[in-house]
Amino acid sequence: MDIKGKVVIVTGASSGIGFILSKMLTQNGAKVALVARTGDILEKLSKELKDSFPISCDMSKENEVINMVKMVKDHYGRIDILINNAGRGYYSPIEKVDTKILHELFDLNLVGPIVAMREVIHIMKDQGEGRIINISSGTALMYIPNMSIYSSLKRALGAISFTANEELKEYNIKVSVVYPTLTDTNFGKNAARDPEIQFRTTGTMIPDTPEYISEKIIESIKTNDTEIFAHREMEENRK
Ligand SMILES: NC(=O)c1ccc[n+]([C@@H]2O[C@H](COP(=O)([O-])OP(=O)(O)OC[C@H]3O[C@@H](n4cnc5c(N)ncnc54)[C@H](OP(=O)(O)O)[C@@H]3O)[C@@H](O)[C@H]2O)c1
Repeated sequence: MDIKGKVVIVTGASSGIGFILSKMLTQNGAKVALVARTGDILEKLSKELKDSFPISCDMSKENEVINMVKMVKDHYGRIDILINNAGRGYYSPIEKVDTKILHELFDLNLVGPIVAMREVIHIMKDQGEGRIINISSGTALMYIPNMSIYSSLKRALGAISFTANEELKEYNIKVSVVYPTLTDTNFGKNAARDPEIQFRTTGTMIPDTPEYISEKIIESIKTNDTEIFAHREMEENRK
C-alpha cells in the first residue's frame, strides 16, 4: 500500500519504536494518530508532525480503545492503517509469575490489539481496503528463560494475525506481523520484572535502532509481506 495521504494509527507513539515510526510515517506523507497514555509527550510530538492527531489512551482498557478508534475516524473521516505497537515486557521465571502482572500484560499485549483490530475492520471493509500491522517480537519464536509470558503473548498475537489475514483476504484487508529483536528503546526499563531479575540478558547481540525497525515496518506496508523479521544482523548475514 502506498503510504502518502493515508491515515495511520500508531499505538505506543510516545516512546521507542512508535515515536520514531510516527515521525518516519509523517515524512512519507501519512497522517498519523499518535496513541499512548502519556498525553504531554504526544502533544509535543504532534506539534512537530504535520496532520498528526494526539490521543491519550490506555490500550489495556477496552472502552478506551473503542473510543480511540472512534475519535480517529471522526477526526480524519477514515482509517487506512492500524499499527498495534504498544506493549510491555515481563521478565520472570514461571515459578514466580505474578498473576496480576500476567493479566495486565494479557490486556495490553493481546486484548488491546485484538479490540483495536475488531474496531477498525468494519471501517476498512466499508473503505474496500486496509492494512493492519501487529508488532510481535523475535522472542515469540524462541524459548528464552524468564520471558515465557511476554513471548507467548507475542506468539498468540502472531497466530491471531495470520488467521485474521485469511478471514479478511476477500475484503482487501491485509494483516502482517513484524518481529523486532533487541532494539535500543525504553523497553528494558519499562518492563515488569521479578525483583531478582535485574538485567535484561542481551548476550552478544547488538541492539537494532528504532529507526531500522521503523524502516522495516514501513517496508512491510509498501510490500504487503505477511511476516517481517526485523533484525539487521540476521539480514546482513543472509547477504
Ligand atoms: N525494544 C525491544 O527490544 C523490542 C523487541 C521486540 C519487540 N518489541 C516490541 O516493540 C513494541 C514497542 O516497544 P518499544 O521497544 O518501543 O518500547 P518502549 O520504548 O517501552 O515503548 C512502549 C510504548 O508503549 C506504550 N504503552 C505502554 N503501556 C501502554 C498502555 N497501557 N496503553 C497505551 N500505550 C502503552 C508506551 O507509552 P505510554 O507509557 O505513554 O503509555 C510507549 O509509547 C512493543 O510491542 C514491544 O513488545 C520491542
